[in-house]
Order: sequence, then structure tokens, then C-alpha cells
Amino acid sequence: MSTKLAVAVIDAAARRPLLPGVGGEKVVETHGLTKRYGTGIIAVDSLDLNVYRGEVYGFLGPNGAGKTTTLRMLLGLISPTAGSATVVGAAPGSPASLVRVGAIVETPAFYPYLSGYDNLRLLARYCRVAASRVDAALAEVDLTPRARHKFSTYSLGMKQRLGIAAALLKEPELLILDEPTNGLDPQGMADVRNLIIELGKGERTVLISSHLLGEVEQMCTRVGVIRKGKIVAEGTVDQLRGAPTLTVRGTPEETAKAILVQVAGADNVTALGDATFSLVVDLQRTAEINQHLVQAGVAVTELHADERSLEDVFMELTGTEGGL
Ligand SMILES: Nc1ncnc2c1ncn2[C@@H]1O[C@H](COP(=O)(O)OP(=O)(O)O)[C@@H](O)[C@H]1O
Ligand SMILES: [Mg+2]
Repeated sequence: MSTKLAVAVIDAAARRPLLPGVGGEKVVETHGLTKRYGTGIIAVDSLDLNVYRGEVYGFLGPNGAGKTTTLRMLLGLISPTAGSATVVGAAPGSPASLVRVGAIVETPAFYPYLSGYDNLRLLARYCRVAASRVDAALAEVDLTPRARHKFSTYSLGMKQRLGIAAALLKEPELLILDEPTNGLDPQGMADVRNLIIELGKGERTVLISSHLLGEVEQMCTRVGVIRKGKIVAEGTVDQLRGAPTLTVRGTPEETAKAILVQVAGADNVTALGDATFSLVVDLQRTAEINQHLVQAGVAVTELHADERSLEDVFMELTGTEGGL
């Protein structure tokens, strides 16, 4: 079932050239990217990932799915066991790539007794970035009013935003953030989410991992669902959710089936048992379908539209509970 859905979603994505960047320049491209740890665990399994310029791409999957391992390979922090990756046109971790990528994959380390501003000044000097970038980066993450306060006095959300400011110092074309809202309180999560939505506007490409479906839904233009190291579906959240279906129950079952196949086409009718059928049709045709059934002498005892919840889709795709 999930395989069928995944294929449908990927096909749908391919037919949708209107998404930001899709089909244009690839900022991240992997082929058969694989990581097997010494323990024998295959954390990332032949992953083909394409992220296009200007996208906010959500890398969504339950804990242990292989998200961090993938992002670490894209940054050259660990090397793949097999396969290849190109990040902003260069090898992961190469100077040509790193100079154009900003990332938070591990919790960034800051000096607690220095202010946010002084921490970034140090980093700027270390990365050979002009000191003037510090104020701009702090402004981008809305930390200007607290910039002169010690890091140790910051809330978790502010610490995370300072981390994002650090990643922005180089004015990167690609921003890679690994579960940036993890561990934050609801307000901190909302702040970071809104910040990422802002950062994703325009040409900048954002690749963000998350285990929270609702979060990715709010931030991302496209989502890749990863399960056990493999992409199992890819597309917009709407595409992942799929088309709504019409559930019809009518007897005699054989007559009902014949009529439904006639009006909707055999490919669009699934028998669910107990004289119940699921139809993929334009919901505007509901009344017409009902009429056909009644005219053929079918007693229609159930007729309703079903929109799959995102939780259902997610559970199917990842084999985990909706909330994760
Ligand atoms: N350094 C490591 N050594 C051995 N196994 C690891 C290591 N890092 C991660 N793993 C394993 O690889 C799998 C994927 O982990 P990870 O990439 O951290 O997933 P995610 O970020 O999606 O939660 C998990 O089974 C995890 O236990
Ligand atoms: Mg992780």
C-alpha cells in the first residue's frame, strides 16, 4: 500500500513544475548514498535526494530513520560507505561547498559568559567573515535587542536562533538545519518555525529535518519522507495526503460494483468488502453517482467523502504512530 502511494506521489511531483525550484538547478543531489556504521546498521540506504534552488525541503522521518546521518554526509562530517553526493555543485565538506553552506547539525557550542554578539564576532573572525555581518545576522534572527546579553541568560529558543545566526554569517546559499525546534517550548518552536519560513523566502535554499509532520507542513514547500534510510514518498504535503475518496456502500453488491466501475472506471474502484467501495473520483460527481446506483436498483446505505488525515498518511509511510 505504501509503495503504491509513494509511486503516485513521486509521479505527481514530477508533473508539477510550478513548485519553487523543482526541475531547476539542483543544490543538493545524491545518488545511492549509503552509510553503514561499524555496528552493521545501515543508517542510510541507497538514498537519491534532489533539493532544488529556492526550495524549503523538509526531510521528514521518525527517530532513527537516518536524517542526521544523511545531513552529516552532506556536510562532509562523515563519509558515505557507498554512493555520491554533490552539495552546491561541489563535494560535501570541500572548501568550495562549505563556503556556500550554513548548517546546524550538532548543538552549536557558544561561550556562556560572552554575549551573543561577542560569540558571533569570534566566529566571524574564525570564518573570515566581515564583522559587519554580525549585526545583520543577529537582526535576521530577531536577536538584536538581546545581542549584548550573556549567552547563559538566553532561553533555549534564543540559543537556537543564535545558532541559526551563526549559520547565516557566511550568507549561505544553502541552509541545513537538523531538527531545529527539538527541545524547544511551544513559543520557542513557533519563533524558530516563523524564522525559517522567513529565511526560506527568495533564492535561499533550506534543507530541514524534522520528525514532526505538522511542523514540516507549516514550513516546507516540499517534503521527502524517510524511513529506515530510504525515501518512501516525496511531494508537497497536499500530494502526500493524496486525493480524497468517495466511500459507497450499496446492495446488491454485484450490481453496485458494476455501476461504479461503469461510472468511475475499474482502476478507480476498490472493493473494501461488506458491499462497500472506495472510489477515486471528482467529489462533484457524488450526486450523479448516487443517481446511477439508485436507477439500477441499488439500495445505497452509505455515501460519503473521505479525506485522509495527514496522520494516516504518515503512519502508512513510516510505520509509526501519527504524532511520532
Ligand atoms: N555513530 C553511530 N554509530 C552507529 N550507529 C549510529 C551512529 N549514528 C547513528 N546510528 C544509527 O543509525 C540509524 C540512523 O540514525 P540517525 O541518522 O541519527 O537518525 P535520525 O536523525 O533520523 O533520528 C539509527 O539506527 C542510529 O542508531
Ligand atoms: Mg537526528
